[in-house]
Amino acid sequence: MNDLFATLALEPARETLAEGAMLLRGIVLPFQDRVLPALRAVIGQAPFRHMVTPGGYTMSVAMSNCGAAGWVTDRSGYRYDRIDPETGKPWPALPSSFLDLALVAAKEAGYPNFRPDACLINRYEPGAKLSLHQDKDERDFSHPIVSVSLGLPATFQFGGLNRTDPIRKYALLHGDVAVWGGPSRLFYHGVTELKDGHHGTLGRMRINLTFRGAF
Ligand code: SIN
Ligand code: FE2
Repeated sequence: MNDLFATLALEPARETLAEGAMLLRGIVLPFQDRVLPALRAVIGQAPFRHMVTPGGYTMSVAMSNCGAAGWVTDRSGYRYDRIDPETGKPWPALPSSFLDLALVAAKEAGYPNFRPDACLINRYEPGAKLSLHQDKDERDFSHPIVSVSLGLPATFQFGGLNRTDPIRKYALLHGDVAVWGGPSRLFYHGVTELKDGHHGTLGRMRINLTFRGAF
């Protein structure tokens, strides 16, 4: 066995991050031929933009959405909205490939009843980061968060219910999905500054899709 295979064999396909939270390595790969063109179509209708936080900070991560609800932030606060404020139109529908992937990953992680109505699309370019936060703008916390990684690798920080709880770091690679729900649904998480690099399919960026039950 050469070194590459030795490494792959040691890498567990499923890793438990906490009670209710799992990392599913490579689970996106069988879906990517459908997911990547669908992603391009969504971004054609709802382009990436850098949103502003209520505190007036322009986020380094560029965002868009698809689904019935889209997560937005501006000077008036964080919320879910059916309308894209940039285009004045509803967000593009959730592509069937996105839904298929989200349901398979949620089921694998122990959430067979997941019904996402929102998908936040994050684009990280080198240097972009997402500070430690909780996902708590959704109405129903019985749904997990299903978070898909594409493109350049990132360092994911996963903590606990309190901002000051110890943080563990995980490399998220192209094709990985992290799912957190149940007892870890409100755990603090974030992404450290994206390192520069080139990904064979996506180039100089990382794309993250997070599926949520928002409404
Ligand atoms: C998020 O917390 O919304 C995104 C997490 C990620 O980019 O992996
Ligand atoms: Fe989040």
